[in-house]
Amino acid sequence: MNIRFAKAPLLSICLNSAKKAMINRAARTRLNSRIQQLTLNPPSSWSTVGAEARPSLHGLLRYPAMMVPKMQGDIIDAVLDSTGASCRVLDPFVGSGTTMTEAAIRGLDFTGIDINPLAALVCEAKAAVDAGADVQVAAEIVIRYLRTDIRETIDVEFDNRLKWFSDEAAIYLSRLRRAIELVPDQPSRKVLWTAFSETVRKSSNSRTSTYKLHIREESDFIKADRVLPIFEDVLRETLRRVERYRREHVSTRSRRPKVEIICCDVRRASIASDLRTHEILVTSPPYGDNQTTIPYGQFSYLALQWIPNRDLPVGATPEHLANTHALDSASLGGSKLDALEKHSVMAMVSPSFLTFSEAAIKARKEDALRKVATFSYDFFEALSHVRSQSRGSAHWAITTGNRTSGGIKVPLDAISRDIVEFLGGTPIGSLQRRLPSKRMPSRNSMGEMITAETTLVAEFGQ
Ligand SMILES: C[S@@+](CC[C@H](N)C(=O)[O-])C[C@H]1O[C@@H](n2cnc3c(N)ncnc32)[C@H](O)[C@@H]1O
Repeated sequence: MNIRFAKAPLLSICLNSAKKAMINRAARTRLNSRIQQLTLNPPSSWSTVGAEARPSLHGLLRYPAMMVPKMQGDIIDAVLDSTGASCRVLDPFVGSGTTMTEAAIRGLDFTGIDINPLAALVCEAKAAVDAGADVQVAAEIVIRYLRTDIRETIDVEFDNRLKWFSDEAAIYLSRLRRAIELVPDQPSRKVLWTAFSETVRKSSNSRTSTYKLHIREESDFIKADRVLPIFEDVLRETLRRVERYRREHVSTRSRRPKVEIICCDVRRASIASDLRTHEILVTSPPYGDNQTTIPYGQFSYLALQWIPNRDLPVGATPEHLANTHALDSASLGGSKLDALEKHSVMAMVSPSFLTFSEAAIKARKEDALRKVATFSYDFFEALSHVRSQSRGSAHWAITTGNRTSGGIKVPLDAISRDIVEFLGGTPIGSLQRRLPSKRMPSRNSMGEMITAETTLVAEFGQ
């Protein structure tokens, strides 16, 4: 009797873990073959362009280098289908929140991180819509107030304000700003600030065809009396998108997700984790330092000067808003200090980086090498930090594109793969997507197009 009692639990533990291993293996095979299928036959919807490619909340604010929502959603579904555990989605370079919206649609808890306060603000606005903020009432307050405000004061000043906004345009923007500030509910105000940011972008003297601040021809300046009509158009579109999102997604889903947006450098973010929760990291980092690829900071600078501090995300750093370059300098690859040490680390972590380095040294492209070394190291540091904060089981899907630096191709897709393997991940697939229109801005030293993106899918055990 005693012997049977002693052996039974052991046997059942062994049987249970064998069963679990079989289920894990089966789930893993299913996910691998789904990823292979998607690799061989990428759905045509991944290449769709135009308004329908970014429906409802996805199109709330124009942000550089947004991911394709349908593709990220398909990846999340493939992982969900293969794991029985409860899942949380994470995007450490959340930008305008493409991954966040796809997670919310599926009722999945989400954590997003971005150093750029405008990116974090738009994510907070999307979360506010998801949580039921009454944007319609807020919009009515603003429109009512605008009818009676005839003050001619300019409420915001910053370096070179007159270069980007005439006094007359600044008076209209100040009225708009005061009207939004009157809305009592902060989550609704966050949604209105996204419409305001779009208005700032469209009505400033900076070209909308480039992400860099770049003055328009004087003949193309937008007339000041267009500021309010532009805002009203953007606001109407915002309300349509909010309504569609609620109708198509919020009303049909079984669970309201918890959403956390952290505005800070991902390398210093404190990310709460729970070892029982399977993590699905879906992200796309910058493809190089912001100065020579996409200047997210410059793109956001003017709007961030106009939005009152009290409504910027907690964690927004005033020094990052002090001038047009500060945010880009604080982002990945923004500083070339310690390039030699960073180079040595990356040469050890990534054989693909080493191949680039040898080619750059041979071609005497020291500056390009310094830039790629510092950016790659910062990216490595960011991913190491994320992994060290959440050591549970995970799937990661990282989308990157290969640009050139100093005329030499930077294999960021292969470098990402090396980093993931160095951190203990196992690559299980690599999805390719040809780009219909995503390109590096034409007025920079990396003027050539990025024509394809790769999404590396990898898994981490516990
Ligand atoms: C390619 S974009 C992300 C776009 C996003 N996937 C979307 O669909 O909108 C990369 C983001 O990384 C952010 N970033 C750059 N350096 C960062 C850092 N050190 N910490 C956190 N975010 C950073 C940029 O501000 C930018 O929003």
